This record gives sequence, C-alpha cells and structure tokens, in this order.
Amino acid sequence: MEIVILRDTREVGRMAASVFARLVRSRPDAVLGLATGSSPQPVYEELARLVREEGLDFSRATGFALDEYVGLPPGHPESYREVIRRDFADPVGLDPARMHSPDGGAADLPAACAAYEDEIRAAGGIDLQILGIGTDGHIGFNEPGSSLASRTRIKTLTEQTRRDNARFFGSPAEVPHHVVTQGVGTIMEARHVVLVATGATKAEAVHGLVEGPVSAMCVASVLQFHPHATVITDNAAASSLKLADYYRHVYDNKPDWQEL
Ligand code: GLP
Repeated sequence: MEIVILRDTREVGRMAASVFARLVRSRPDAVLGLATGSSPQPVYEELARLVREEGLDFSRATGFALDEYVGLPPGHPESYREVIRRDFADPVGLDPARMHSPDGGAADLPAACAAYEDEIRAAGGIDLQILGIGTDGHIGFNEPGSSLASRTRIKTLTEQTRRDNARFFGSPAEVPHHVVTQGVGTIMEARHVVLVATGATKAEAVHGLVEGPVSAMCVASVLQFHPHATVITDNAAASSLKLADYYRHVYDNKPDWQEL
C-alpha cells in the first residue's frame, strides 16, 4: 500500500486525476470504477478540465458505479446513477451506453446484483477503482461487519452513515436505509485501487485503513491485502497516522521511474 500525503483537497484531486489520465491515455478503452461522495469531486473536476483543455478522451472508456441506494425513484437527483452522470460521465464525455450502475430499483435485487457482477466480468474487470472512505471505515457501502469476501449485494446502512449522507437530502429521514454495493471481494479484484480521503473527520478511518489490524470493523483495512492500492490524503486526514513522517519520506525519495 502506498500512502501519499499532500497539502490540501486540490492537490489530492490533481494527483488522483493524474492516475486516471495516465491510464486512459495509454489504454483508451480502460474500465473505470467510480465512487460518489464529496471526496472524489475534485478528482472528477480535474478530469473534466483535462478533457476540456488538454484533449483527454474518455469516449472509449467504460464506467462501473460502486454502489446505489435502494428504492429512490428513477432520475432522483441523489441516486448515484444521476450523481455520477452529472459529476463525471457527462463532463468527461463518457458514452452513456458504457456507463453501468447497480439497479437499486430492481424487483429482484439479488438477481440484479448477480447480473452486475456478470457485467463487470464481461467487461474484463475493473482497471482502476476510485474510492472514498466513510467515517466508519466503509468503502462503497460495505459497512462494518461486511464479509471481506462479499460480492455485490444489498446492505443496510448504519445510522451514522445515514446521518453523514443526510446533507445530500432534504431531511435525514429521506436517506434510504438500504443500498446495493459492490462487495469487498469485488472491489479487491480491481487491478489498481486509489482511495482519496480529506479532512480531519476521516483521520480515524484512515488510521484504521492504513495502520489498524485488518478487520471487518474497518472494512477499508482489507486494502492492506491489495497488491496495488494507493491512498492519497491531505494533511488533516493523515493526522492520526503514526508513521506519517515515514510515508512522507518514502514519497519524497521515490525513484523518478516509479509511478503511483
Ligand atoms: C458514501 C459512499 C462512499 C463514500 C462515502 C464518503 O457512503 N457510498 O463511496 O466513500 O459516502 O463520502 P464523502 O467523500 O462525501 O465523505
């Protein structure tokens, strides 16, 4: 696991976007895993800028959303399908036919979850997955106690996550209780995982992710087993890391030829 500690949200966004840009330049038909939440926003904004100003081209890329609420009406502005369309797919010019999302409105949710796994497999798997992290250490919507081998399935949100996400809805009561999320095992199969975390509210979760024991109590800690995981944080989110100075030292002395 590589830890990169930067000054602020803007630097984090630019660094994570550069990983996307390098991949899509070298492999225009790359398969991208896309997360919602506020953390990836600066990444998506920077990518949209690179498309506008530097001709980065996503027209042949494929996208898979990480998760979705269950039961929101189609087209609800806070459904993750809509958020990713608005914040990423449209601004970068991703072909809507190549953008996949779990179906949180399916009559048969287990069948829809299995079909989503099939879609990811048929696309050849995910090359690059961007992740945020919940204050309780969740990735996607894999709440504490999730099986670390899980596949795409329905989950029940903790009340803490519902409160954290209430800012996107009219009132806390409107946040759904249920979600469909790529499983931990699904996420672990992405060839490169880039997790972005910013702000002091994420410091404990980042500590658990990087330095805690691998445990379903902090699901993100499973990334310690991932062969290519990059964690990019600002100073505030890194403030509980015991070895922060070492991670800075490693990054500062990184050989030029070695990429993220
Ligand atoms: C939601 C999403 C996660 C995201 C988390 C943190 O729960 N399902 O993918 O990482 O929110 O969001 P934020 O980046 O807004 O703190």
